[in-house]
Amino acid sequence: MQENELYAFLKDFRSSLYGHEKFKDDFEELVNNFIVFNKLGEHKVLSLFLMGESGVGKTEVARTIYKCLGGKRKLAKVNFGNYSSEFSLSSLIGSARGYIGSDDGEIFIRVRDTDIGIILIDEFEKSNATLFNYFLDVLESGKIISSLADEIDINGFIIVFTSNISKENFQKTISPELRSRFDYKGLFTLLYDEDKRKFVEFRVKSIVRKFNLEFEDKLDDNLYIDFLAKINVGKFNNMRDLNKKIKKIFVDYVSTFNRYTEIETIEDQKGFMKKVKSYLK
Ligand SMILES: Nc1ncnc2c1ncn2[C@@H]1O[C@H](COP(=O)(O)OP(=O)(O)OP(=O)(O)O)[C@@H](O)[C@H]1O
Ligand SMILES: [Mg+2]
Repeated sequence: MQENELYAFLKDFRSSLYGHEKFKDDFEELVNNFIVFNKLGEHKVLSLFLMGESGVGKTEVARTIYKCLGGKRKLAKVNFGNYSSEFSLSSLIGSARGYIGSDDGEIFIRVRDTDIGIILIDEFEKSNATLFNYFLDVLESGKIISSLADEIDINGFIIVFTSNISKENFQKTISPELRSRFDYKGLFTLLYDEDKRKFVEFRVKSIVRKFNLEFEDKLDDNLYIDFLAKINVGKFNNMRDLNKKIKKIFVDYVSTFNRYTEIETIEDQKGFMKKVKSYLK
């Protein structure tokens, strides 16, 4: 990465993720150090372990890094919520030859299919000690090794681990060896109302943009101001709930329209609402 590209990336990241200012400062410093020590061959993988409440942007960190680095395909994501059984290691890295289902493990498929060097391991605490140990090795060696000893070099990658674990359980569940290998351990707190309002503004603007591309009767770009007047953001701690509220208000709002010339019959109205709902996904 050139210096100006790095600058643009960090700036874009800052504005795309709302709130968590301390984390964003730390992240900037981590990335700057990582670039230096990775070049020296001393730091293979940058690992972040993010804990905290639901719906405040932990997973969003990985999505945002992917997007801000210009990802065009798919973020490499493995959800460890599905990896709690004793066979989970073979699902992750493939099973030994001759064994039924000796297919590629999920992490290999995901890393091969992506175009950016970032891996998201969601709900990390849901898996078990075997997988924790596997990651000890990954963070140390900068390689993911399959059960058939194929390897993918992930030198220079960022791995984001997310978890709903509490601080106390973090100490209990994750071994000290692994804990000490994470470059960053952070607790995500609830967002401030100011950040939630930014979220509302951004969401409404983006829905309006999609809507206006399709319909001739344009919605006002400042519609978000009405939404902010209708939503008490203080009542929402999970941004998924806030998003649902925005969708509901939007659907109610447009369903009162019959100024659209093409909406004359009930059928047309239904078709119109169906389209509207597809923008809200
Ligand atoms: N800080 C934030 N900045 C921007 N968007 C956010 C932020 N927090 C949440 N969101 C939005 O809310 C949605 C849910 O956030 P996210 O998936 O990151 O939650 P999470 O913290 O990983 O929660 P969980 O523990 O339930 O997985 C995201 O898709 C994103 O649109
Ligand atoms: Mg999440």
